[in-house]
Amino acid sequence: MTKGIILAGGSGTRLYPMTAVLSKQLQPIYDKPMIYYPLATLMLVGIRQTLLITTERDLPHFQQLLGDGSQWGIELFYAVQPWPRGIPEAFIYGRDFIGSDQVCLILGDNLFYGKLDFLREALRTNIGGTIFGYPVQEPQRYGVVELAPDGSVLSIEEKPTHPRSPYAIPGLYVYTADVADFAQTLRPSARGELEIVDIHRIYLLQGRLQVRLLGRGIAWLDTGTPEALVEASSFIHAIEKRQGTKIACLEEIALHQGYITLEQFHQAVERLPASPYKSYCLRVATEYEQLRSGVLR
Ligand code: TTP
Repeated sequence: MTKGIILAGGSGTRLYPMTAVLSKQLQPIYDKPMIYYPLATLMLVGIRQTLLITTERDLPHFQQLLGDGSQWGIELFYAVQPWPRGIPEAFIYGRDFIGSDQVCLILGDNLFYGKLDFLREALRTNIGGTIFGYPVQEPQRYGVVELAPDGSVLSIEEKPTHPRSPYAIPGLYVYTADVADFAQTLRPSARGELEIVDIHRIYLLQGRLQVRLLGRGIAWLDTGTPEALVEASSFIHAIEKRQGTKIACLEEIALHQGYITLEQFHQAVERLPASPYKSYCLRVATEYEQLRSGVLR
């Protein structure tokens, strides 16, 4: 089994003043709070137990929005990261939650759109750590991975001035349970944070780090700056408008994944206030019923 962790703390300084009173991960991406998207990603690959880690200030908001997850047939747990002292802290605060299971960590501000088979396969084949490489125009803003022609990892560098490849490492990672032990051994870097790249170096040294390159069939979107936020919103808007569907509608995902029955779906949707979101859910239910009775093919 794989458990999920969404790391949704941080200070979101680049989005100030929007983040003066509200978490970055609760800001809207077109028609939903940002946190819906990473949670949808985890749900879509079969992860039904997820720990959300956030700040003390924002915790009540997330709990109010997402609850215990039962409305979507999943279990949500919460933990507080008092200060943003680095991504690997997720495994320190999440240690008991992880137990002896594999874990998939997604940063709460990372949006993926496209066929998620790359992640399903990573969950199946991971032997230690699995990270992804995504070609971007400005790799120097990210962790960067360099691969040999045979796919083995040559180097991993955090925000290099002279990137050795165009492959940025997205905020989506898969690890075996021992990641919690490794996180305990890390020391803060010069910037005072535990560094995720140090976790990757440990798995690399042990010959247990795998990298999967993502192609243009997958959109990986940034949401850290006002410009990135508006671009992500436009992207989601364009696809939803064109297709007449919604991306990251958690009720719909829960129904299609078989996490809830149609009856439970109706119960969950009944509680929603009258809104375009609710109307969409009602349409989903009708189409689902028609599909089941063989009207639609
Ligand atoms: P960042 O974009 O590095 O940081 P931030 O969200 O605080 O924003 P800014 O740089 O504008 O101040 O973090 C990426 C994601 O990881 C974001 O969702 C916050 C989360 N994060 C934590 O929750 N805790 C941490 O210790 C770190 C480093 C990041």
